[in-house]
Amino acid sequence: MPVSPPPAGQPRLDPAPLPLPRRRFIHLLGGGAVLAATGPLAGCSSAFPEEAVGPWREPSAHTDPRRFMLAHALLAPNPHNRQPWIADLRDPGVIHLICDGERLLPETDPYGRQILIGCGAFLELAVMAGAQRGLRVDVRLLPDGAPASAALPRGTRIATLTLAAQGSAAPDSLFPQILRRHTAKSAYDSTRTLPDGLSAEWQATARQFGLSSGVLSGDAAMAPIRRITREAYEIEAVTPATWLESARLMRIGPQAIATHRDGISMNSPFVRVLHGLGFFDPMEVPQRGQSSLARVMDRWDAFETGSGYLWLGSPGNDRGMQIAAGRAYVRMHLQATARGVDMHPLSQALQEFAAMKGPYDAIHRAVGLQPGVATLQMLSRVGYAKAAASPTPRRELATIIRT
Ligand SMILES: Cc1cc2nc3c(=O)[nH]c(=O)nc-3n(C[C@H](O)[C@H](O)[C@H](O)COP(=O)(O)O)c2cc1C
Repeated sequence: MPVSPPPAGQPRLDPAPLPLPRRRFIHLLGGGAVLAATGPLAGCSSAFPEEAVGPWREPSAHTDPRRFMLAHALLAPNPHNRQPWIADLRDPGVIHLICDGERLLPETDPYGRQILIGCGAFLELAVMAGAQRGLRVDVRLLPDGAPASAALPRGTRIATLTLAAQGSAAPDSLFPQILRRHTAKSAYDSTRTLPDGLSAEWQATARQFGLSSGVLSGDAAMAPIRRITREAYEIEAVTPATWLESARLMRIGPQAIATHRDGISMNSPFVRVLHGLGFFDPMEVPQRGQSSLARVMDRWDAFETGSGYLWLGSPGNDRGMQIAAGRAYVRMHLQATARGVDMHPLSQALQEFAAMKGPYDAIHRAVGLQPGVATLQMLSRVGYAKAAASPTPRRELATIIRT
């Protein structure tokens, strides 16, 4: 009997787990225990606890300009929702953006490239929010120098943001999209095409930051991307270090989600029951040839739907480029939101750990970049999600501020 994954769009799996050992799963299917246990949870909501998504509600309520900027910036997309940022406000009129060394992903992101992309997205939203208040923000990148290319950016000062005088900037037309932007991880409608002109808008944004981008659509162009991304997902799942890194960040159920407000939040009644009864142990690494992996891979099917794949590449791969990629990426996502288009990064094949070398090279070539010369910074499926995405948890503003 095939195992049904949780309903589409419910748990936000990033990557998607459900590694039930076969023996336990058969027991599960055979017994009525789970059905009985699900009873009290029937009608129970998958929605995230209100306090966990509170930061999405009133970021404009902050009167202090720096807090207004930061309250918007912390809504930035970022890998595994680690929220790797600290804002030092001790110098008046200045924000020092620091990469939080406790919030890195050393296994899946061994050089902190994705983490810096998240910091770049944060930086861009801060600048946009400053402009909304009429303040130009002068950005000095990496004021203490860049971390070595193979080092993790632990505690690195990413940028110093200095606020110019009132009236020095005009609002950014994408600002209203900040609160509407969400990463949609459910199945997309593959029959629809992207709106005219959006790809050109994305390219212009990429160019503005010194990067390039393109969209691959149609079955012939998408087939190799589907194959490579699937293989990469499997490699990440069966590699114990990378699987366990994600597993440790799984927040299952309202209490864990409200406590941590980060990571991979899973709140569907189905997953909560399985986890509560001990049938779902995130720390069990899926294995090839076993049903545990088959069930994880079942969830990948939805991740092959969409109108196309959007790629964003940089010449070289220095730290400035990684931050610029984050700035460009979030603007591209906001442009998509403005046009009613959804976006979902699929980063496994872009990751730099040893076992990923094959898919890493292949995905670069598939989008027309030469591995080692240019760097694919982001790859996302794009299109129209069948289920509307909702806000993901964020930590309180106060937790990221140092005064
Ligand atoms: C550099 C980067 C890599 C990401 N990679 C993935 C990914 O591989 N799979 C995925 O489901 N989401 C990925 N995301 C999206 C994040 O999971 C998402 O931004 C985060 O959970 C916050 O949710 P939000 O974007 O809806 O606010 C990535 C985001 C960034 C910035």
